[in-house]
Parts: sequence; C-alpha cells; structure tokens
Amino acid sequence: MRPAIRPAVVDDLPGIVELDQVCFGREAWSSVAWEGEFERLAEDRVILVADEGAVAGYVVLLVPPVQVDVVELLRIAVAPDERRTGIGRQLMTAALARCAGRTVLLEVAAGNESAIGLYGGFGFDEISRRRGYYAGGEDAVIMRWRETA
Ligand SMILES: CC(C)(COP(=O)(O)OP(=O)(O)OC[C@H]1O[C@@H](n2cnc3c(N)ncnc32)[C@H](O)[C@@H]1OP(=O)(O)O)[C@@H](O)C(=O)NCCC(=O)NCCS
Repeated sequence: MRPAIRPAVVDDLPGIVELDQVCFGREAWSSVAWEGEFERLAEDRVILVADEGAVAGYVVLLVPPVQVDVVELLRIAVAPDERRTGIGRQLMTAALARCAGRTVLLEVAAGNESAIGLYGGFGFDEISRRRGYYAGGEDAVIMRWRETA
C-alpha cells in the first residue's frame, strides 16, 4: 500500500532523526539540528513525511516569505528497504505542489545517482557545480526546477 504523505508533527521527530541517521550516517543532522527545523515550521520550513505507521521517508523545504520566489529543497530520504517503490516520487510530487510559481534549488553530490535520477525525472536541470565541495572531494551539483505551464 502506498504511504500517506502528510505534514510532519512533533511526534514524528524521533522517527525522522533515526531514519536520517540510517540514511546519511556521518552526514546525518543532529537531533538539535532537527529540533531547529521543527521550530521553524511556523516560519519558513515545510517538512512532509511518508507515513506507513512508521516514518518511511521525509522531505524538508525552506520556503521563504512569498516575496522571495526561490525555494530550497534541503533534504529528502526514503528508508533503504522501501526504496525504488515510488515513495521518493510521492514526496517530491507533494513538495513541488507547494512550490507553484516559484523556482526550486537544491544541491546534490555528483555521484548520487538515485537522487539525480529522481530530480531529473521532475525536470530539474543542472545549473552549476561546486568542485570538491563534499568531504572526499566530490563535486556538488546545483539543480533548478521551475514549474512549466
Ligand atoms: C534519492 C531517494 C530519496 C529516492 O527515493 P526512492 O523512493 O527510492 O525513489 P522512487 O522509488 O520514487 O524513484 C523515483 C525515480 O528516481 C530515480 N531513481 C531512484 N533510485 C534510483 C537509483 N538507485 N538509480 C537511478 N535512478 C534512481 C528513478 O528515475 C526512479 O524512477 P523509476 O523507479 O521509475 O526508474 C533515495 O534513494 C534515498 O533516500 N537516498 C538516500 C538519501 C539521499 O541521498 N537523498 C538525496 C540528498 S538530500
């Protein structure tokens, strides 16, 4: 069954922190950092979760006030044993539905084929690179999405 995609609530925090550690290891955000993201929900963050009873995935957007027309996609992840079943696409579809009329920017490691494949499927284009940006010397790719009419 496909998970429900819904806005995160504070009760999701432990599940998200745990899944973030599974998905990103040493690059995971600390629980303090995640608490900070949740504190900004009333300001400029949108956090959506894929709910299967437990948190199966999440996406975090920085959505500035409306006079700023650029949204930043900060993070997306799906539980390893749930990948390639369409949950990433479900999360992206729900996230981009909240970005109508705006430009969305994100940054991704050049070797992250799964994420680049996911973003490319939604029409994200590479617009720039930061050479050697990540630990280990991997480039960062900057990608942009704009809603097409
Ligand atoms: C990137 C990620 C969120 C994709 O989630 P997912 O649920 O597996 O994605 P989906 O099943 O919805 O796949 C949608 C499309 O993405 C692309 N894709 C997903 N995994 C892929 C892979 N391993 N290789 C190539 N393309 C891939 C494909 O185009 C896929 O469509 P298809 O299955 O019809 O071919 C997931 O791999 C993940 O959590 N990765 C670790 C965290 C991460 O790197 N996040 C991005 C940086 S913040």
